[in-house]
Amino acid sequence: MAALGLGCTPKKSPVTSSDSGSGSTDTGSDSGSGSTDTGSADTGGACPETSDNIEGPFYREDPPARDMLDIYADEGTPVQLEGRVLDADCSPIPGAVVDFWHADPLGSYDTKTEEMRYYGRVTADDAGVWRFQSLVPGLYLNGSKYRPAHIHVKIFVGGAVRLTTQLYFKDDPYIDGDPYVESDLIVDFTESDGALLGAFDFVLA
Ligand SMILES: [Fe+2]
Repeated sequence: MAALGLGCTPKKSPVTSSDSGSGSTDTGSDSGSGSTDTGSADTGGACPETSDNIEGPFYREDPPARDMLDIYADEGTPVQLEGRVLDADCSPIPGAVVDFWHADPLGSYDTKTEEMRYYGRVTADDAGVWRFQSLVPGLYLNGSKYRPAHIHVKIFVGGAVRLTTQLYFKDDPYIDGDPYVESDLIVDFTESDGALLGAFDFVLA
């Protein structure tokens, strides 16, 4: 894909999300699982750290290394996302490992198969850049309300978890009223030939 305009685009918001929630269900509730809760206090660095977000109940360890999560060319809207992993001084973190996972276009997580559909792991290159492609996640109910479409993210550096968060889609009507969305996690995607293209830099504490 063509390179998107990358850049540290400081977007700071205080952490207000709650890790608490009602019990999860097999239909895909994110509630009931704690986040890494690393906190998002302003470190005073040039790049404000990315807010954390709940992990949800569907994380699976060691997803396959792949930058295309749609392995069967399912029906859906393609989404391409790229960005960097940075420290608070805006320096890239080469080799940072980024796990992505999300619901399939119908709103279900592959929690059981060895294929681990819509789960994948990418590694940042020497410039801290990562890329991945997939399909826009489907909606699922969290209690009586749909959660907005979202992509789960967990980032490791040197084998240690440094950030657990989620990315959201700007103009998703379900963002309003969702208890977990943080404004700095909303990606402003551009539509091109039926696909959504987005850029996002993760800034670690
Ligand atoms: Fe989720």
